[in-house]
Amino acid sequence: MLDGHLLLGWLLSVAFVVALNAIGPTAAHFGLTGSEPLTIFPLSQEPDEATGKSHYKVCDRLKLERKQRRMCRRDPGVAETLMEAISMSALECQYQFRFERWNCTLEGRYRASILKRGFKETAFLYAISSAGLTHAMAKACSAGRMERCTCDEAPNLENREAWQWGGCGDNLKYSNKFVKEFLERKSHKDLRASVDLHNTNVGLKVIKSGVETVCKCHGVSGSCTVQTCWRQLSPFHEIGKQLKQKYESSLKVGSTTNEAAGEGDSSPPKRVFPGHSDQIPRTTDLIYIEDSPNFCKMSKYSPGTSGRKCYKDKNCDSICCGRGHNTQSRVVTRPCQCQVRWCCYVECKQCTQKEEVYTCKD
Ligand SMILES: *[C@@H]1O[C@H](CO)[C@@H](O)[C@H](O)[C@H]1NC(C)=O
Repeated sequence: MLDGHLLLGWLLSVAFVVALNAIGPTAAHFGLTGSEPLTIFPLSQEPDEATGKSHYKVCDRLKLERKQRRMCRRDPGVAETLMEAISMSALECQYQFRFERWNCTLEGRYRASILKRGFKETAFLYAISSAGLTHAMAKACSAGRMERCTCDEAPNLENREAWQWGGCGDNLKYSNKFVKEFLERKSHKDLRASVDLHNTNVGLKVIKSGVETVCKCHGVSGSCTVQTCWRQLSPFHEIGKQLKQKYESSLKVGSTTNEAAGEGDSSPPKRVFPGHSDQIPRTTDLIYIEDSPNFCKMSKYSPGTSGRKCYKDKNCDSICCGRGHNTQSRVVTRPCQCQVRWCCYVECKQCTQKEEVYTCKD
């Protein structure tokens, strides 16, 4: 049923593909969009005494493409950052989708099936992966974990007397360059490839637009005669939230060219936007090509929602797909009325409460 939508993709005009391409022909896979293991294995603690190349093992386990592996191996900081990016993006995805039918189940076969299609969920995965990598890399630079980059550099400033560029800013310039190179892939152009690339770029843009200049005052008793300022990225939770909003308002693209009347291909085809007639996607919108399955029942895309915990009056109706929910009472004991004792521990009482747990029926 969905295959019909996929076909529309192949009718796409070159004009649209070119318009979408900003960083290269297509975007390579990484993080949630690739075949990397998502298990969060511990960061390599033991530095390899003999060679100092213990990170090679990590790079190999990540199942990267040849160029990516080369980039991974050339700096131990990269391997660590890639792993951090994967787990950060995965956790953020699961957090953002915790109340949805699709709860960002990333177990191997579900992830692979979703990535083969062009759903909204696929779009989100592409965007959060590239955002996660850019974020993690910029932070790794400023944290001194990389050999090839350090803090963000001061831009040229006029008002040198009043304040100075200082501190250690997150190095977005380096991380952008790195991520573009890391994800760039020469490959044939088609609708899927350009949509993936577009969504990858949305991830980069969200990071960029979240950069803030923060300043700290110096001078006699906080008079702030001198300030030092640096650039700082938004917390990744903020990025996840914005991408989730973009997911909600993502736009369907494709060709309205009638399959039967495929001759008129010299003019760019109109795009399909359900509910938004003729709204043209901006470079900051997430785009998709196929309607998603409902994720209610077990399928190759998700384990379905039977047995899923839900929140009454909040999402039970929607995530249980009309099947209703079971209610269980249970008694839970939790620490409560905690107080900080000098010095330095927290003392709590144990409180016992009755709690209702709701789960979706089969
Ligand atoms: C997602 O939902 C499934 C059940 O549908 C559950 O088994 C799984 O633990 C959930 N994953 C997360 C990350 O909450």
